[in-house]
Parts: sequence; C-alpha cells; structure tokens
Amino acid sequence: MKITQISSSKIKDIDFENLDFGRIFTDHMFVCHFRNGKWETPEIKPYQALTIEPSASVLHYGQAVFEGMKAFKDSQNKVWLFRPEENFKRINLSSKRLQIPEFPEAHFFKGLEKLLALDQEWIKPGEGNSLYIRPFVFASQPSVQASAAGEYIFMIICAPVKAYYSGGEISVLIAEEYSRAASGGVGFAKAAGNYAAQFYPTSEALKKGFQQIIWTDANNHEYLEEAGTMNIFFKINGILVTSPTNDRILDGITRKSIIKIAKKEGILVEERPIKVSEIKEAHESGALEEVFGTGTAVVVLPINSFSHQEKTFTLPKGTPLANKLKTILMGIQYKTLDDPFQWTRSID
Ligand code: COI
Repeated sequence: MKITQISSSKIKDIDFENLDFGRIFTDHMFVCHFRNGKWETPEIKPYQALTIEPSASVLHYGQAVFEGMKAFKDSQNKVWLFRPEENFKRINLSSKRLQIPEFPEAHFFKGLEKLLALDQEWIKPGEGNSLYIRPFVFASQPSVQASAAGEYIFMIICAPVKAYYSGGEISVLIAEEYSRAASGGVGFAKAAGNYAAQFYPTSEALKKGFQQIIWTDANNHEYLEEAGTMNIFFKINGILVTSPTNDRILDGITRKSIIKIAKKEGILVEERPIKVSEIKEAHESGALEEVFGTGTAVVVLPINSFSHQEKTFTLPKGTPLANKLKTILMGIQYKTLDDPFQWTRSID
C-alpha cells in the first residue's frame, strides 16, 4: 500500500468539545480504485477533494453503498474497533445487491489499521468520544449508460464525533404515507439512495417537531420496521421486542449486539413483527414501558414520544433498560467492562 502522510496536521484547529456530527474529518483517507476488472493497490493519502468526471455514473444512478463503524480509545490510549468484521461483511452484501464488485478483506483491514494508526491522535479517550469511520464505494466510471459501471472507488474517511443527537432523546413520527423500503428492494443494504429517499419526509416531520420517522411496511403501514438511522426496540410487559430483519430492514450491528447483551442479562427478547396498533394498545394499557433506537451513530437512543394519525403518545419518563444496555455496550466498547462476546479488536 502506498502511504503519503500530511505535512502538517489540522488537529490543533479542532474543538473536540463541540463537534457537529460528521462535519470534521481527520488528516488521511484510504482510496482504492477498481479498474480493468480488478481492485488496484490501495493508497492512503492526505484527506482531500476528489476529481471525478461530471458523467461519473454515481452522480446519475446513485450506485453507491456505505458503512458506519466506530473506533474507541481505552484509558491506556489503545485503539479498539467494535465488530469490524460485521461491517466488512455487510458492505460486501450491500455491494452485491447494487452490482458493485466485492472488496477484498485484506485491503479493508490493512487500510483500516494503517489509517487509524496514522490518525490515532484524533480519537479522544473517555466515554462519548469516538471516531466515526465511514467506508464507502461508488461508481466512478464516466458513463451515463443506465447499467452497472466498470470503474469504482472504495474509500475510508474518518470523523471524530460525540453524540449524534445532543438532547439525548427524541420524539418520532410513525409513517402513514411514505415508505422507506419495499420487499425485494434494497432496504437491507446501506445503499446511499435509501437515505436520500428519507430526506424529504424526514424534513416534513422535522417541521412538526419530530427528529425521525419510524418506517412502517410499504403495503399497509401496519407493521413497525425501522427508523431512518436506527433499528427500534419496544419494552412491553418486561419483554424486549424488535422487528425481525428481512430484505426491508437493515441488519444493524448495534441491534444484534443489544439483543445478545439483553439475553445475557436475562431479559426476554422477541424478534417478531410488531403492529402499530399493538404499541398503541400497549401504551393505552400501560404495558409499553420503553421505546428506544439503536445504531452505530446513535448507540442507544431513548424515544420519549411517538405520534400516529395526529395523536401523540408520551412514554413514561426514564428508560432504565435502554440505559442499562447502553452502559454495558459502551463498557465493552471502551474496555471498562469485560468483553464476553469478543467483539472488540485492537489496532496495534
Ligand atoms: C450509522 O449509524 O452508522 C448510520 O448509518 C447512520 C448514519 C446515516 C448517520
């Protein structure tokens, strides 16, 4: 791998206490081109603008997928990744669905290790601080033919972050009109277009005071599926319930980690279809104790109210289960607790 280091770091200009999520990027980036039917030798170079042609296929047809992962620093300043092999598997699963050539495992992990070693000063120790890592791949071939491109660029960029939402909890709107994904589509993939398609309905929801939409099934808007940047969990009568993953729902790494942690803590977990009517009724009867979202960016995020058909359902104050699961997850990530599942991987 060719490595070109920056001559002078931007780090001294960064206010690490006031980070707007995903706006500041570290000194270096990882780049690898796919040309002539193969991935070329990857490169790490100073973070900089790209030059692509206006006809680059991604700009026209959105052939692009991405991942979100995080690196953490423990109290000894050692850098740890959380379940990176899951992100690697998932980006290739997403790529396959978008007809993008799969990326070699050795390039991915070597690239990550070298990039994090170079930019490790950007990872601040202490719970709440992390480095958000964004691997992504897009069709770079100059072509407006509506078919899979012959050239791609795979990149990794990194952003030092704190919380995704500063308030610590959000209120959500349950979708009745728009849909995020349909069966047979690309909902399970981290396809760039899945996110773009949410921006309009989400901005309409924001105007009404909601931070995210909980998407429902595209057929009848009857079943709860996932929120824009997170999977969702409901605690009903002491049982933790979440929708099963399928081809419409992202197989969240935080989601499956939370399920494992909850089960180990002796909490009953059900992965089953959940009707909107079920949670409204559970709210009515007092059985709905907590609602929270999970995701790499948000970690575990309590939801304080949901709205459906112009009616708002306010949840009880305090989310002890969400807090407990988050504390355990973060303890594993920051190495303050044991890692019984062997989820963390150090960068040496
Ligand atoms: C993540 O949690 O990594 C996500 O995919 C959310 C991102 C769109 C900000």
